[in-house]
Amino acid sequence: MTPTETLKHEHKIALLILNAAEREAQLIQQETGKVDLEKIDKMVDFFRNFIDRCHHTKEEKHLFPKMQERGMVNVAEPISVMMHEHEEGRERVKAIAEALSQTRGGVPSGIESLKNHLLAYVELLRAHISKEDNVLFPLADMLFTPEDQHALVDAFEKVETEEIGEGVHEKYHQLAHNLAKG
Ligand SMILES: [Fe+2]
Ligand SMILES: [Fe+2]
Repeated sequence: MTPTETLKHEHKIALLILNAAEREAQLIQQETGKVDLEKIDKMVDFFRNFIDRCHHTKEEKHLFPKMQERGMVNVAEPISVMMHEHEEGRERVKAIAEALSQTRGGVPSGIESLKNHLLAYVELLRAHISKEDNVLFPLADMLFTPEDQHALVDAFEKVETEEIGEGVHEKYHQLAHNLAKG
């Protein structure tokens, strides 16, 4: 797989969890009273480790800088938008985790806040993924030399080992499939 193919594949896995997160938020909205806090806890773990520590690090530390190095057209602006959205996502995940612990602690407003932050995160990430898949990554592939592609494949492997540990990436793939099943 080329580096952008790897990232697109990770987007597909992330979208599985985002769909599951949206379903949980909708259940809260329907006031079924059946909030699966354990499941949302696993989602937060996925958002933090798979999406942020692993996937966003590949983009921020390797893909985006390489694009800037090769940028004949102005890539600085779209990249800064992507970086800003990663930061927004991080804040949103913090808010989800906070709302989760409030809900666990019996704070009445916790559940409403959990629902709102989950929905906002899903919306943010879906739009972000679509911009990368359709605009940013095709641009990256136009700019990169074959050497750049090889260097990025190696750099991505290192991120997986250093950020989340060898084999852990697979654990998250499995988690995504389990959560997607319901
Ligand atoms: Fe991104
Ligand atoms: Fe991405």
